[in-house]
Amino acid sequence: MKQYLQVDEWSIIEDSFDPSTQEISESIFSIGNGYMGQRANFEERYSGRSLQGSYMAGVYYPDKTRVGWWKNGYPEYFAKVLNSTNWIGIDVVIDGEPLDLANCSVKEFVRELNMKEGWLSRRFTAVLDGGRELRVEAIRFVSVKRQPIGAIRYAVTPLNFSGSITFTPYLDGDIQNKDANYEEKFWNEVEKQAYASGGYLTLKTKKLDFHVTSAMAYRLEKDSQPVQAESTFAEREKYVAGSLTAAAAAGETLTLYKYVANVTSRNYGLGQLVEAARDQLEEAVQDGFDVLKQEQAVAWAEKWKESDIVIEGDPAAQQAIRFNIFQLNQTYSGEDDRLNIGPKGFTGEKYGGSTYWDTEAYCVPFYLSTADASIARNLLIYRYKHLQKARENARKLGFTKGALYPMVTMNGEECHNEWEITFEEIHRNGAIAYAIYNYVNYTGDRAYLGQYGLEVLVEISRFWEQRASRSTAKGKYVILGVTGPNEYENNVNNNWYTNRIAAWTLEYTLEVLEELEKSEPARYAELLETLKLENEERAVWKDIIANMYYPYDEERGVFLQQDGFLDKELIPVNELSPEHLPLNQNWSWDRILRSCYIKQADVLQGLYFLGHLYDLDTKKRNFDFYEPLTVHESSLSPCLHNILACELGYKEKAYEMYLRTSRLDLDNYNNDTEDGCHITSMAGTWMSVVQGFGGLRVMQGELVLNPFIPEHWHSFSFKVMFRGARLKVNVQGETVSVVNETETPAAVRIYGQSFKLDGLSEVHTRKSEAEANV
Ligand code: BGC
Repeated sequence: MKQYLQVDEWSIIEDSFDPSTQEISESIFSIGNGYMGQRANFEERYSGRSLQGSYMAGVYYPDKTRVGWWKNGYPEYFAKVLNSTNWIGIDVVIDGEPLDLANCSVKEFVRELNMKEGWLSRRFTAVLDGGRELRVEAIRFVSVKRQPIGAIRYAVTPLNFSGSITFTPYLDGDIQNKDANYEEKFWNEVEKQAYASGGYLTLKTKKLDFHVTSAMAYRLEKDSQPVQAESTFAEREKYVAGSLTAAAAAGETLTLYKYVANVTSRNYGLGQLVEAARDQLEEAVQDGFDVLKQEQAVAWAEKWKESDIVIEGDPAAQQAIRFNIFQLNQTYSGEDDRLNIGPKGFTGEKYGGSTYWDTEAYCVPFYLSTADASIARNLLIYRYKHLQKARENARKLGFTKGALYPMVTMNGEECHNEWEITFEEIHRNGAIAYAIYNYVNYTGDRAYLGQYGLEVLVEISRFWEQRASRSTAKGKYVILGVTGPNEYENNVNNNWYTNRIAAWTLEYTLEVLEELEKSEPARYAELLETLKLENEERAVWKDIIANMYYPYDEERGVFLQQDGFLDKELIPVNELSPEHLPLNQNWSWDRILRSCYIKQADVLQGLYFLGHLYDLDTKKRNFDFYEPLTVHESSLSPCLHNILACELGYKEKAYEMYLRTSRLDLDNYNNDTEDGCHITSMAGTWMSVVQGFGGLRVMQGELVLNPFIPEHWHSFSFKVMFRGARLKVNVQGETVSVVNETETPAAVRIYGQSFKLDGLSEVHTRKSEAEANV
């Protein structure tokens, strides 16, 4: 773990160039706008190690699977988010010598990701052959307001020489996914044209026929004035470019502006792509770089208004939390319910950019609290739209009714094929049901249940009904052969979490049915008809709820992660000598599976989700038992432990877990940031501050807060959107204040005391005072 980034509250800053961390920086300094994303590759050619990455949301490739031992039921493909046209490229040649930071010495290098205004900049001096020094200042962004638009300003100043400089801005579609299973290229060219000051290129995926058109326009200025340049343009297979050559004397600056519009067949008909790209491009060019950049700052200010967290007294923690919020907002913007959140967002190829249970378990709370409710609702509707595919998936595995959502998906089909994940991590169905509860509980939008939610719940319940089987020996329902959230155990029987979330789904479904019968009888009748729901099914569900088997250890008073867990040798992680860690890099899989070590919250995941159903003592006993056995080798783990530790008053543990989640990528904690940032666990970091230190829950329509402040912090504050109101919660020492920044009234409960907050009003209290008033 090498810490090489500067601490700054609003920016990520790298102040020297080190090729060995280039790929890590390419991930960290990524930019995105929910519609597309771009790793922080250099604009000019770079022959050193680099993962070139330009991604368009929702454009993927069904790459033919590669597995050793094929199992019936496996999907034929693994979906890959597609690395598409490199639209940022600008070759720079100085008196015949190409600029390439791998082939010259570099000084005064600074790269900055400005999170406040949403742009990436880089400045450096390159020392070329013969000691000629060239100053470069580049800045770029992908527009939040005009999503297809990317804009680059690239300025070059010869410092101690005069010379001729050629800029070649290009669009290059000859791109390969690093993670391609057969080293194939996934794109074919459809059409292209290069012309004076611009060009366009349309590519089409070899399967599924996604079309992407990129159109570019560029112009060159010298010292902010148009410059006469020698201009040519070129075309070759999947490539268009233009070249501008001009002379610059020492101290003169040549600035190239490059604008690009990227549009896809997801949003336009095939015949309209070029026109759509060129129209949007033209508008952007007319408005110009400064206007676009100003718009970008305004758009990000709006986002920060709803989602900022301020931590006083700990700049590293401040930077980290903003980085997490920034990346989440760059990844998903919520207007398009066909999109979702890949574990690496647009920052890398790992996990294929596909949707995992991470969305429901970790990301939904972030979007629920930091944006309009429609954004989280769209994440739920995404699964609603995949219901038919989830039914087909269940049939494929031999179930006669119900739905099993995929563990990994792009379009609703399962596309993962390791048996222990594809077939066994069925707990994902529970998280999808839980997200419906979470959304309705948070927003109060009960209409969602009749519109969409109930259908999903009934189909998931039907799956659990068949997946649970009656054990004669136990006289109980059991769920056999599963993998729980802890992937360091496979094919176990009666994973407590899975059994519990299954029974809970049945309970919640029955509750929603009952509610709907009363509140919306006509819709209820319609749904019974559509779903062909029989009374007998409900009777079976009740029987399962009443007779589900939960492994439990009487002596310790803890739920057992699965049958037989206590047969393991229980040695706490802190007694392992450090060279064993991380286990996944040092131990054989066999040794991991037989050990007691837990990759990520499992029983504790259940106690987090269903926290309202368990008392503190139960949570404490289970936390005390499981946390010492947990290696947190999933980035999703520390945040949940932070939240439970906060609730239990384990302040040091809570802070330790917070540090582990919040700077995971900035400090490259898991030594894998070069593959991309851990976007979904960033939502967990947000949860650590808001639900952990802030103690935020929603109970009976009230926003409940039980904050405590880590010793190192002077104060912290966060914003949450809650039922139409935007509330700013500030915690300083014992004092908690909540400011209602909107006109919509809200109900809050602080340390047990309820307050009604009128529009634009505020409340202050202290822990001792509030507790005395309860
Ligand atoms: C975790 C899963 C998670 C996946 C994607 C795995 O390491 O164990 O729970 O869904 O990563 O983030």
